[in-house]
Amino acid sequence: MMRSFVDPMVLLICFLCISFSSAQSSCPQPAGLHAAAKASGKLYFGTAFDDPELSDLPFAALLNNTSDFGQITPGNAMKFDATHPTPTQYTLSRASSAVSLAAANGQLLRCHTLVWHSQLPGWITNPPTPWTNDTLTPVLQEHIHTLASAFKGRCAAWDVVNEALNEDGTWRDTVWYRTIGEAYVPLAFEVAAKADPSVKLYYNDYNIESEGAKAEGVRRIVKLVKDRGIPIHGVGLQAHLVSGSAPSTADLARVMVSYTALGVDAAITELDVRIKDADAGATAETRQATEYANVIKACKTVARCVGVTVWGISDRHSWVPGTFKGEGHALPWDKDLKKKPAYKAMIDAWMLGQICPMGGRSGA
Ligand code: XIL
Repeated sequence: MMRSFVDPMVLLICFLCISFSSAQSSCPQPAGLHAAAKASGKLYFGTAFDDPELSDLPFAALLNNTSDFGQITPGNAMKFDATHPTPTQYTLSRASSAVSLAAANGQLLRCHTLVWHSQLPGWITNPPTPWTNDTLTPVLQEHIHTLASAFKGRCAAWDVVNEALNEDGTWRDTVWYRTIGEAYVPLAFEVAAKADPSVKLYYNDYNIESEGAKAEGVRRIVKLVKDRGIPIHGVGLQAHLVSGSAPSTADLARVMVSYTALGVDAAITELDVRIKDADAGATAETRQATEYANVIKACKTVARCVGVTVWGISDRHSWVPGTFKGEGHALPWDKDLKKKPAYKAMIDAWMLGQICPMGGRSGA
């Protein structure tokens, strides 16, 4: 006599059917922003941090969560004033801690930054005798050589030159440009490349996320370096965006392609989307979420966009309120370390159109 039973094979097939059909509408949620970026074929999703923030333990736990952050950038610790306070003294301990943190967590490290007009020590900005080409050039060379050698093999990328351009695409009037001329830019890349031949060397700037005179200036810089046979590997788009006037996916993708067409990578290096205090609230956060997602979608579209870095995790530790009066609320986590709508919007943007593990395509 036959016993009635459910064939285990039938059960398995049914299970697969159900899994497959649910995967048609959305893939299983990835474990975090970095996991989602990797699933999209990108190298990383990351964040900047500043060393004092590490004593905020719940915050540090977010930073150390490699499902969300597979890359970190020290926000201040590697800058000129932090690393080279007097002509003969290098103070690399804060920078070294960032290197160790990235290594301990298995996160990629973006090193920031070698040549900039800001956060310079007094001995550079107010020298006892005015700088000349002959006196400043060796200072620039030694500084770059020392830092790039000290962290050789530890930085995935260096922001070699930061913010060298005015809004109209002309050279910014800095101590470097005034004294050395535009030659300081290729020189900086040349010294960095010799000190650490395997690191990716970037030009990094803001307001270059849409086409315009400044974007044209960026392309001029890439060509200036390349034409001299000196390596430059990428353009960093800081993307300090203003909610309400953030670029569309199409505009951002188009300008990124105009850079990568020159034979370099692109990275979003300092993303935040600031909101006026007066507008803060749920409606503003919804718009901000779309603006964050648009950046992710643009990076996805551009083959040589390698990854996205936010300039901080939580509104609790953000440079925005201190720099832009009456604005803030710029990061994906709020002051209480709660995720804002931008978080899920970015995950969904990374996953959009992904092939799910069980087959099907995410419609999230
Ligand atoms: C900011 C830091 O986040 C602040 O803590 C500091 O006071 C000023 O600099 N562009 C850059 C970053 O390349 O280095 C800046 O970081 C933000 C703008």
